[in-house]
Amino acid sequence: MDNCSLFCLCGRTALITGAAGGIGEATAKTLSEQGANLVLVDIKEDKLSEISNNIKSKYNNKVDTICCDLSKEEVKQLFSKAEKQAGKIDILVNNAGLFKSDDWNTGTNESYLHLAMKINFEAQFILCQDAAKSMAKYKFGRIINVASIGAFIGGYKFACYCASKSAILGLIKSLALEYSKHGITVNCVAPGVIDTPMINILTDEEKEINRSMVPVGRLGNPQDIANMIAFLASNESEYITGQTMHVNGGMLMY
Ligand SMILES: NC(=O)c1ccc[n+]([C@@H]2O[C@H](COP(=O)([O-])OP(=O)(O)OC[C@H]3O[C@@H](n4cnc5c(N)ncnc54)[C@H](O)[C@@H]3O)[C@@H](O)[C@H]2O)c1
Repeated sequence: MDNCSLFCLCGRTALITGAAGGIGEATAKTLSEQGANLVLVDIKEDKLSEISNNIKSKYNNKVDTICCDLSKEEVKQLFSKAEKQAGKIDILVNNAGLFKSDDWNTGTNESYLHLAMKINFEAQFILCQDAAKSMAKYKFGRIINVASIGAFIGGYKFACYCASKSAILGLIKSLALEYSKHGITVNCVAPGVIDTPMINILTDEEKEINRSMVPVGRLGNPQDIANMIAFLASNESEYITGQTMHVNGGMLMY
């Protein structure tokens, strides 16, 4: 039932990657609240079904889950698999990410740079291309990629992560040029430092240093990012495309 007036997503279906993580879960709940049906994607199958069950018990939406390792070939079939399960996808939220320092050992023959590029950039690239082609047929689409403040300020010993996030900025601008005439907007959100499991690799002291650099006076929470994603997913954001939305409590200002 349509019980939301602003940023209403009733009748829309959103595919969200990294849905078992902090920002992904908050985004799934927020888009559900606004009436969207969901396809939730992550590598963590158990957490994914827990989140999906919670949402289904609270809202009336349809929620599908797909367990997928975005660094593997299976990412190439992900969008069509999602459409087979859930029908037309109107909103793509490319949110999954891997955050490690440059000297992290992958435990495989693969270098961290290669893996970071695959998960943080290539998977987004593939899903964007598949989504845009499909959305163009329906003359509506919202593509929202999650980048990072790191793409703008860098990070000491985080060159791989920051480089992979920077690549997203060129991608969204190019796709915005190509697909705006088809009713598809392509934007990204650049979170500041957000209190999710991802930043547990930082020490308490490092978190405090980050917090002290935020004019708003606190680290971000997943809901801060989910709110921006919900806006970008809505009809109301139709005149915004090719943009990066900085959600960082003022840590970086343009
Ligand atoms: N938390 C922050 O401070 C922060 C800051 C800037 C940007 N971001 C970005 O926000 C996004 C969400 O991060 P978060 O903070 O919620 O982190 P998180 O670690 O809580 O969630 C990330 C999710 O991505 C999933 N994922 C990772 N590799 C995957 C793979 N190969 N296949 C499928 N799923 C995979 C993880 O399983 C996890 O559920 C990421 O892109 C991250 O880079 C986060």
